[in-house]
Amino acid sequence: MIDIDAVRAGIPALANSVYLNTGTFGPLPTVAADEIRRAYSEVERLGTFSPPIFAEMELQGFEAVRGQVAALLGASPAEVALTRNVTDGINIVLHGIDWQAGDEVILTDQEHPAGTVPWLALAQRAGVVLRWLELSLDSDAVMRRFEALLTPKTRLAQLSHVSCLTGFRLPVGRLCATARQAGVLTLIDGAHAEGQFSVDFQTLGCDFYAACGHKWLLGPQGVGMVAIRRELVEMLRPLWLGWDVQQSYDRGERRYQLQTTAARFEQSTRPWPLYLAFGKSIDFVTRVGLDKIETRVQALRSRFVAALSNLPGVTVLSPVAGARGTGLITARVEGWSCEALQERLWKRHRVITNIIREFNALRFSIAFFTTEAELELALDAINLAVRGESPKIDT
Ligand SMILES: Cc1ncc(COP(=O)(O)O)c(C=O)c1O
Repeated sequence: MIDIDAVRAGIPALANSVYLNTGTFGPLPTVAADEIRRAYSEVERLGTFSPPIFAEMELQGFEAVRGQVAALLGASPAEVALTRNVTDGINIVLHGIDWQAGDEVILTDQEHPAGTVPWLALAQRAGVVLRWLELSLDSDAVMRRFEALLTPKTRLAQLSHVSCLTGFRLPVGRLCATARQAGVLTLIDGAHAEGQFSVDFQTLGCDFYAACGHKWLLGPQGVGMVAIRRELVEMLRPLWLGWDVQQSYDRGERRYQLQTTAARFEQSTRPWPLYLAFGKSIDFVTRVGLDKIETRVQALRSRFVAALSNLPGVTVLSPVAGARGTGLITARVEGWSCEALQERLWKRHRVITNIIREFNALRFSIAFFTTEAELELALDAINLAVRGESPKIDT
């Protein structure tokens, strides 16, 4: 059992709203905010490049967080680069491959713009052909469509672990196994997986796994990660290069030696205190336990989805039951534009949600710290909107 009161006491933002938007940005726990304050106070007190600061933050601290991220992902530290966000991870992979015109890349039709815009630009620039995998809530149908898209020219498939539009948890293990059999690389966007359930990079069988710290892991904005399968680290070409703490550079000979680990994808000056704080957020989440988190969120979401589906005029676009559902629940309310409903929930009920504009729907994020009472309140708020108000449709 999770001690919900203790957990909530550690996340002050929860006292000020019904926070159902962890899928966009998770609320920051006090331990992480304290670490940011502590680290910057030390920087202020001692000077940015004083030996203790350098040793604590840039060397030991950052590497310790790399170790935490590696443990979280089930990867080795040599396979992990600490980035700023998911976008960084996607671009590291995309720009690291030597593309030929006519190479094919499969993307789901529900990738976040962070995972489509770079590919659209690559298609335009390098003649890479994009093939779109249509998602639905049916894993077997997704598998069949994926198999049908594979051709001898397919080089890579980018797949969200969890769709940001519906919260559907893709059968990523099966997709990666099929891709690998066909000699196709796989890049998983784990933005909505990390912190919602356990992820094991090795058993998942993907080649690259990109994620961020600022959603379900409750880290500060500006920290992320990418795991790169060990054999591929030196095959992937780093596009952005610079100085790094352990890279060697011979000024006389004008030669440099890149690191042989995934750290070669990290460059130059970084906001080290934020990574230290990220380490505290990871501790906070993993102390609760990812298995317990998954179990609790499954129970909360099942009841919420069932109740939501029963409201008149509400269409749930997320999986209704079963393990393919996650804490992201998307629903459309008849007669309401998503913007107007989002604003009303915030202004009248202090319920924070996000919108999925393409479906004219609201997205509710249920996290392990969400309570039954909060979900009841959100349901009542939607019910009131459905029944009590004249329809508001933005024209
Ligand atoms: C599935 C998915 N991928 C990528 C992103 C972009 O994340 P970042 O800002 O960390 O690059 C988001 C953001 O919401 C997302 O939902």
